[in-house]
Amino acid sequence: MNGRFLEGRVAVITGGNRGIGRATALALAAAGAKVAISGRNQEKIAETLALLKAAGADAAAFTCDMRDEAQVKKLAEDVVARFGAVHILVNNAGTAIRKNVIDFTMDEWRALTDTNITGVWLACKYFVPHMKGRGYGRIINLTSIMAHISSTGRGVYSATKHAVAGLTKALALELVDDKITCVAISPGFIATDLTAPLRADPVKNQALMDQTPMKRWGEASEIASLALYICSDQAAFMTGNDVLMDGGFCAQ
Ligand SMILES: NC(=O)c1ccc[n+]([C@@H]2O[C@H](COP(=O)([O-])OP(=O)(O)OC[C@H]3O[C@@H](n4cnc5c(N)ncnc54)[C@H](OP(=O)(O)O)[C@@H]3O)[C@@H](O)[C@H]2O)c1
Repeated sequence: MNGRFLEGRVAVITGGNRGIGRATALALAAAGAKVAISGRNQEKIAETLALLKAAGADAAAFTCDMRDEAQVKKLAEDVVARFGAVHILVNNAGTAIRKNVIDFTMDEWRALTDTNITGVWLACKYFVPHMKGRGYGRIINLTSIMAHISSTGRGVYSATKHAVAGLTKALALELVDDKITCVAISPGFIATDLTAPLRADPVKNQALMDQTPMKRWGEASEIASLALYICSDQAAFMTGNDVLMDGGFCAQ
């Protein structure tokens, strides 16, 4: 992979304002991509946009709640109006509610499934038509080790990530003739805001480290490096699969 191999490509990263999304936006921009980030938290949007601009990127930020069809449709229109094209869609925005399946309220169920499943579907629905006919395209879906296994207290999150793994396979098949690949990334435990409550609890933190063969938290930048590889021409034959990066967690 040559240093600026994404020169001329436009990448959209949902939830690009912090965590894995921010790291991915910075990595793709460093490889020359023009970058559109979206999110809701204005402070984090401003912080990330400043980091991208400081790195010399052609970048823009958009406010969008991925659960809302009208907002996602407008996001796609606004990104195309700003950059003229879309080549890479990183469906990263996601959230977690940790409780047992039957303890979910209807509102919690909707909040989690609307964000983690419907948001991914909406982004594909409104961005993919702009990605066709370009001879190159990448959709990267953030799933999780919870798309491979499940766990008490993570059942609904796990169900949403299994659903996204299914969408990944379907999209890969539907878009193969358009030369748009669709690959999922399954992170293990990564040190971001999402996992801050687990790291802040010494007992939970120790338990997770005991369960992780490498005995450490992963870094958002490590996941970003995998996303960068998936965007390269060297990964052109990779589609419909889900790549684990989990410190050995699922090997057990
Ligand atoms: N960290 C881990 O250990 C881990 C492990 C496996 C999988 N993952 C997956 O990786 C992805 C990123 O996780 P992360 O750890 O970076 O999480 P994070 O630090 O909590 O960031 C989540 C991102 O998603 C955005 N988001 C959440 N709900 C949204 C909504 N309704 N509309 C728009 N944006 C929304 C947030 O932006 P706003 O709050 O500004 O909207 C934020 O940018 C998620 O899909 C997560 O499930 C993470």
